[in-house]
Amino acid sequence: MGYHVPVMVREVIEGLVVDPDGTYMDATAGGGGHSEALLHALGEQGHLIAVDRDWEAVEASQERLSTDARAVVWQGSFAELGGLLAEQGGGALSGVLFDLGVSSHQIDVPGRGFSYREDGPLDMRMDPAAGQSAADLLAVCSEIELAELIKRYGEERQARRIARAICRQRQLEPMRTTQGLRRVVAATQPQMLNKTLARVFQALRIAVNDELGQLQAGLHAAVSMLKPGGRLAVIAYHSLEDRLVKQYFAALERGCICPPRLPICNCGQQPTFKKVVRKPRRAGDEEVRENRRARSAIARIYEKLEVN
Ligand SMILES: C[S@@+](CC[C@H](N)C(=O)[O-])C[C@H]1O[C@@H](n2cnc3c(N)ncnc32)[C@H](O)[C@@H]1O
Repeated sequence: MGYHVPVMVREVIEGLVVDPDGTYMDATAGGGGHSEALLHALGEQGHLIAVDRDWEAVEASQERLSTDARAVVWQGSFAELGGLLAEQGGGALSGVLFDLGVSSHQIDVPGRGFSYREDGPLDMRMDPAAGQSAADLLAVCSEIELAELIKRYGEERQARRIARAICRQRQLEPMRTTQGLRRVVAATQPQMLNKTLARVFQALRIAVNDELGQLQAGLHAAVSMLKPGGRLAVIAYHSLEDRLVKQYFAALERGCICPPRLPICNCGQQPTFKKVVRKPRRAGDEEVRENRRARSAIARIYEKLEVN
């Protein structure tokens, strides 16, 4: 089985690469699919920095990109991007790519605990050396916190009922496996078990990896690492991520924030980014037929403006 099939490769690379001799960062290297496509689009002077918080992804990308002297692969999270670039003496970037979420490899390996279809430890950490596993999180959250988390990050209507069932079960024994959690969710008799499981597992994954906090930190870092004229592309797979990206850049595109009743601007704030394409991009029908992951992919591309 392959590591991961990247989505919307042509659309993203065409939108991102403005200067083939620039330095680009793939902040979500995964199996190195987008990174490899980026390298194809770059010239001899171009450089690529591929980053992932997951060591398995770092190793897979190192193997795939090792023959290309223009590429380096680093391990780190979005929150660490700015520090890593400064530490390694890197300058301003011409483009940054975020292809969010988990890779097919992370889902396919039962030992990572991301899949409700296979039995495995309830882990779900993208970087298994950092932070709390899903099992640890389930052991310490109160019922109210758990219900809130499942509702907010999983957009699951039966969140309270599921949280209550989890808390009852953990009084009998700690919840340590994906199938243990699956049985508890199934016992709440949701109308569509697989959809409910997908939402509960998504919620836990987002919480365990602080995905929205990480995304916010990653966007901050990318915005300051880009040179004027540089571009940033984000591929999101659910509305929580996509909304965050859209709102983050809406503020940077807006410029003046004076109340409308003021006759002239006195905030002096100018737009610092613009959309490269007005509407976010979606995968074409053919790609969606061949790769189910592409169904929910939504890509936004922005350009940093020269500000006087
Ligand atoms: C959808 S996959 C990327 C696949 C990649 N584009 C490819 O072509 O194979 C997302 C990757 O981003 C990584 N990732 C997610 N959140 C991260 C974060 N906050 N910091 C660093 N890497 C992250 C995951 O570990 C995963 O390998």
